[in-house]
Amino acid sequence: MIVNKSLGILNSNIALAGSDEGAATFKNNCAACHAGGKNIMSPNKPIIGSSELKSKEKFTKFLSTTHGVMPSFAKIASDEPTLNGLYEYVKTLK
Ligand code: HEC
Repeated sequence: MIVNKSLGILNSNIALAGSDEGAATFKNNCAACHAGGKNIMSPNKPIIGSSELKSKEKFTKFLSTTHGVMPSFAKIASDEPTLNGLYEYVKTLK
């Protein structure tokens, strides 16, 4: 998927560090569709308040498969430090 590819290039150009890692991962992979924790593609399916955030297991599983136009993020799902940072970050969205 084109979206996914170009975001991947962006991602590799940005140095990720410490507690900003989750925010950076979100910005580079999710914000195009989920700016502010909302959902510009499917407004009735925002990240904020999503039941997919209930546990890390659930979140990981969700990221591992595609959902309509949302591509899978298997690479993030299998990268524990990046996954943890992203999971902690999305839970702070309000
Ligand atoms: C190309 C646009 C796009 C990108 C990029 C994207 N998403 Fe999504 N996301 C969607 C769409 C569309 C849905 C609704 C899917 C459906 O119909 O079930 C969704 C649904 C979700 C949901 C579930 C919301 C609910 O209804 O409970 C979560 C959580 C989520 N996305 C997280 C993420 C995260 C985290 C990333 C980045 C790693 C990301 N998304 C990247 C488009 C995107």
